[in-house]
Amino acid sequence: MIAASTIQEVREQVAQWKRAGLTVGLVPTMGYLHEGHASLVDKAREMCGKVIASDFVNPTQFGPNEDLEAYPRDFDRDCALLEAHGCDLVFHPSVEEMYAPNAATYVEILDEMPKQLCGKTRPIHFRGVCTVVSKLFNIVQPDYAFFGQKDAQQLAIIRRMVRDLSFGVQIVACPIVRESDGLAKSSRNTYLNPEERQAALCLSKAVFAGQAAAEEGQRDAKALLKLMTGIIEAEPLARIDYVSAVDGETMLPADELTDGVLVAMAVYIGKTRLIDNFIVGGLK
Ligand code: PAJ
Repeated sequence: MIAASTIQEVREQVAQWKRAGLTVGLVPTMGYLHEGHASLVDKAREMCGKVIASDFVNPTQFGPNEDLEAYPRDFDRDCALLEAHGCDLVFHPSVEEMYAPNAATYVEILDEMPKQLCGKTRPIHFRGVCTVVSKLFNIVQPDYAFFGQKDAQQLAIIRRMVRDLSFGVQIVACPIVRESDGLAKSSRNTYLNPEERQAALCLSKAVFAGQAAAEEGQRDAKALLKLMTGIIEAEPLARIDYVSAVDGETMLPADELTDGVLVAMAVYIGKTRLIDNFIVGGLK
């Protein structure tokens, strides 16, 4: 596996692969990789001639009181995982390589979409995500890019940005990978102490209960959210940020649980904010 830290190296390598007629898949990540990230690399490996993963903790998507400095990092371990899953190149730039000191150009969706769900408490988050993902698309020029359903709002926003700005990349959604007890895998799970780790199961329990109710024909969002909220509130270490049902494309509130509606939550377990979700009728 090639490890590249400059934009120039990536551009030259991709140009060479494209000249050889190979398709290129991109898996954007912030590192501290786990099996959730690996599933994206596996999917990319399946669909593309060459696979690039980016490993960059992007400062522009963290708010002033968020965990940028504390965000876990282990590049050597990431490289081992990526190599084991057949990644061809890891792009691991410095902050200086990605952002000039006076960088002031951002990509932002200017309607309600990024203000819903996670956007309510993280007002600049999706602007940072759109900006860095646009930059990665410009640097790599991938044919396909792979994103996890775990970050459902991010995925919907990236799809929208790609459409609105005519990026020539096809977005591929990958299902949520979970621990054996149900907890959605996340780099942030490492923040949890053993007691919190146990408490964190209330998210997946609520998701599974909600999913089962929807499958059994519950069509009323309010009733479903009440059921799910009850499960989370029964856990003393949990504090709900939101539990919502929204249109899968616009992220605006949905009253009726038709296929494609996103049921999503963010819950604090102690100081750690975790997310989980499901799509009514399943991921298409
Ligand atoms: P990060 O949190 O590292 O996630 C990278 C990708 O892995 C995202 O597409 C995310 O949805 C996916 N992922 C994480 N956990 C997953 C799980 N349990 N199952 C399936 N997929 C999972 O998301 C980001 O980084 C950043 O915002 C980024 C897009 C890289 C921009 O900086």
